[in-house]
Amino acid sequence: MGDSFPQGFLWGAATSAYQVEGSPLADGAGASIWHRFSHEAGRIKNGDTGDVACDHYRRYEEDIALMGELGLGAYRFSISWSRVLPEGRGRVNSAGLAFYERLVDTLLESGIQPMITLYHWDLPGAIDDLGGWVNRDVAGWFADYAEVCFRAMGDRVPMWATLNEPWVITDAGYLHGVHAPGHKSRRETPLASHNLLRAHGAAVERFRGLGPWASQVGIVVNLEPKEAATDSPEDRAAAERSDAYMNRQYLDPLYFGRYPEELAQMYGRDWPEFPESDFASIRQPIDFLGINYYKRGVMKHDPAGKPEQAALVKPTGGVYSKNGWESHPPSLTRILRWVHERYAAAPLYVTENGFAAPDPDESPPGGLDDSVRVEYYRGHLAAARNAIAAGVDLRGYFAWSLLDNFEWGEGYSLRFGLVHVNFKTQKRTPKASYHFYHDVIESNGAAISA
Ligand code: FCB
Repeated sequence: MGDSFPQGFLWGAATSAYQVEGSPLADGAGASIWHRFSHEAGRIKNGDTGDVACDHYRRYEEDIALMGELGLGAYRFSISWSRVLPEGRGRVNSAGLAFYERLVDTLLESGIQPMITLYHWDLPGAIDDLGGWVNRDVAGWFADYAEVCFRAMGDRVPMWATLNEPWVITDAGYLHGVHAPGHKSRRETPLASHNLLRAHGAAVERFRGLGPWASQVGIVVNLEPKEAATDSPEDRAAAERSDAYMNRQYLDPLYFGRYPEELAQMYGRDWPEFPESDFASIRQPIDFLGINYYKRGVMKHDPAGKPEQAALVKPTGGVYSKNGWESHPPSLTRILRWVHERYAAAPLYVTENGFAAPDPDESPPGGLDDSVRVEYYRGHLAAARNAIAAGVDLRGYFAWSLLDNFEWGEGYSLRFGLVHVNFKTQKRTPKASYHFYHDVIESNGAAISA
């Protein structure tokens, strides 16, 4: 194999609807929970909102041209549920759906394979009004929405991911209240997690029922290998609980049809009884697993850490992003090998990986020299290659993100893009990392070691 990746390895980049599109209410769309949340005072840094974002809703052709020049084989984006179904269920808004059909068709004409994420956090506000992810009926509503998308584009979109990062949806949105819908409820959190998994299962069933398609369906989870800060039994147990909470909480039901035992212990009386019959649908086979990886988690025992009684420790001497995330490439190899060994999950895709460097708001005319980000990508791509060499069936890699964009609670203060976006003018300027990734793609990975 030498320095290259396997033939046919899929080189991609990712974004999500609310983070890039702007025009959140255009063409008859309903408000999402992120539209509502970002308009509440004090929720988002600097009072930022996704009202304009990267204006991708109107500039998608220019952005696809940038993808073409980059040499992308695939583009991962998400559909905004409330553009397609403004009330979350019932009436289809064909003008909203048409945007995604145009996007898909323009990608295909440019030789770029679309990967669609059906849910990247922007729940229709109307569904939230009915209890959102805490209401058991949400699984059926999600499957109905998924069916509309499958029927419209299933013939030409080769890869579908049901959900993006159920752990973040519930931990940030239902337990800590820092993401929409901004709840802080130990009781709601495991219910929301479980209904997300049920929604995934229901959508996969719908996909299989409508097919056969030539396309594939899977799910995207974010994983962190958990390490104990010290050798003490307390810290080692804290790392185990964190692993159960963040990683195994989703993968064990998906692959084994049950939750890790630690969850019932850590939630205590807030842990619900789940009908055994739910798990058959949750664990049905999927065609691929997407893994978002940014960093490892070094954990110490902390009784105040919710709900797993653990807290993150910041190892000294590392390279850190603007938001304090440590660059640690060996942990990417480790987590891929762990998924391969524990779950025999295959094929795998790295569906997000990237770095928030302290990039300025204005780009130098010739492009920003974001060498820290280049080194992050170099290290993590080599780590991905090491996993393949160790036998992991990794078929593709998606950089996060194509564009600087709306980084949730952090607003526009964190930049993850390969392409710099000036949010005053909407001017796009490729960074050094874009040119580096271009060379990586063109050489099928050999340029990593150059
Ligand atoms: C992930 C999200 C993505 C982006 C990156 C930085 O958790 O899926 O939307 O915010 O983090």
